[in-house]
Amino acid sequence: MGVDWDALLEAAIEVSERAYAPYSGYRVGAAALVGDGRMVVGCNVENAAYGVVLCAECGLVSSLHATGGGRLTHFVCVNGDGAVIMPCGRCRQLLFENGGRELVLRTPSGLRTLAEVLPDAFGPDDLEAGRDA
Ligand code: THU
Repeated sequence: MGVDWDALLEAAIEVSERAYAPYSGYRVGAAALVGDGRMVVGCNVENAAYGVVLCAECGLVSSLHATGGGRLTHFVCVNGDGAVIMPCGRCRQLLFENGGRELVLRTPSGLRTLAEVLPDAFGPDDLEAGRDA
């Protein structure tokens, strides 16, 4: 069965409405499917100490682990207008850790794998080489 991207998009839009973004005024909502069929979501949460901002993807990844773990398979994030946006560089790294190269993202330019939007990523395998004995 195909992935219900519309449902994922709708969940991302819905959670974006609960973002806490009083400083930037830029709301973000993220939604993803997990290998077992679960859906996880997250919204950005800002802080008076501006650099402490939690991107929507941070909440999503925390929710992934808090609700049983697993691997992300499909992902989308939106801004406050409901438009699909790209995850920031740091969050692509978060997605790589939890979904790997095959994770499929809906982006403004269509469906892309994580390997396409974060080529040659540093990941868990790289830690094996170069570690002290
Ligand atoms: N933001 C996210 O939540 N995810 C991204 O991938 C891009 C940026 C948030 C962080 C900040 O609260 C606001 O968008 C403006 O940068």
